[in-house]
Amino acid sequence: MTTSWKHHFSRFLGAGQWLHAAAHSHHPWPDVSFEAQQQAWLDAAELIDGKWELIFNEVLPQAQAHLARRLNLPSARTLCFAGNTHEFLLRLLSCIEHQPVRVLSTDGEFHSFSRQLRRLEQAGRAQVERVATEPYASFGERRAARTRPGRCTRGRSPAVAVLRGRGCAGPGWRW
Ligand SMILES: Cc1ncc(COP(=O)(O)O)c(C=O)c1O
Repeated sequence: MTTSWKHHFSRFLGAGQWLHAAAHSHHPWPDVSFEAQQQAWLDAAELIDGKWELIFNEVLPQAQAHLARRLNLPSARTLCFAGNTHEFLLRLLSCIEHQPVRVLSTDGEFHSFSRQLRRLEQAGRAQVERVATEPYASFGERRAARTRPGRCTRGRSPAVAVLRGRGCAGPGWRW
């Protein structure tokens, strides 16, 4: 059975039938986020400093539970929220003991990520391979050619393992 989520995106998609697959804030936002943003403002106005109790004790656990249910995860506690790319990257890096970390990236990353990666390279904490994104038609082949299977002992990238909440920091990881 196919589940359609289109009706949740009516403000962004309108009646359009087009498919939009961009990541981050460039993707269509669900309709519910309009009311949610207004509610956040009202919560702040009502609770002022007390808003953080509401956010950390109620809003975030509820959001974790919703996502865990949708993603069929064993525990909502395996999900965490990060405010920006910097925090996301540092959380991933903190799970990998071996340094320098090897990163397969592209020459088309967003500014904040590419800048932080360059800094990590400069500090000797990352070795980065950048695959050219253009010509786009053959990008998949180029990237696949640079992805060397078997480099990670559990058969998937640590980043994916981290995202799945299984942890990846064990000494078993070979890079
Ligand atoms: C594609 C993309 N990635 C990431 C970000 C966020 O960057 P940062 O985490 O540095 O705020 C943005 C912000 O506009 C973006 O457009």
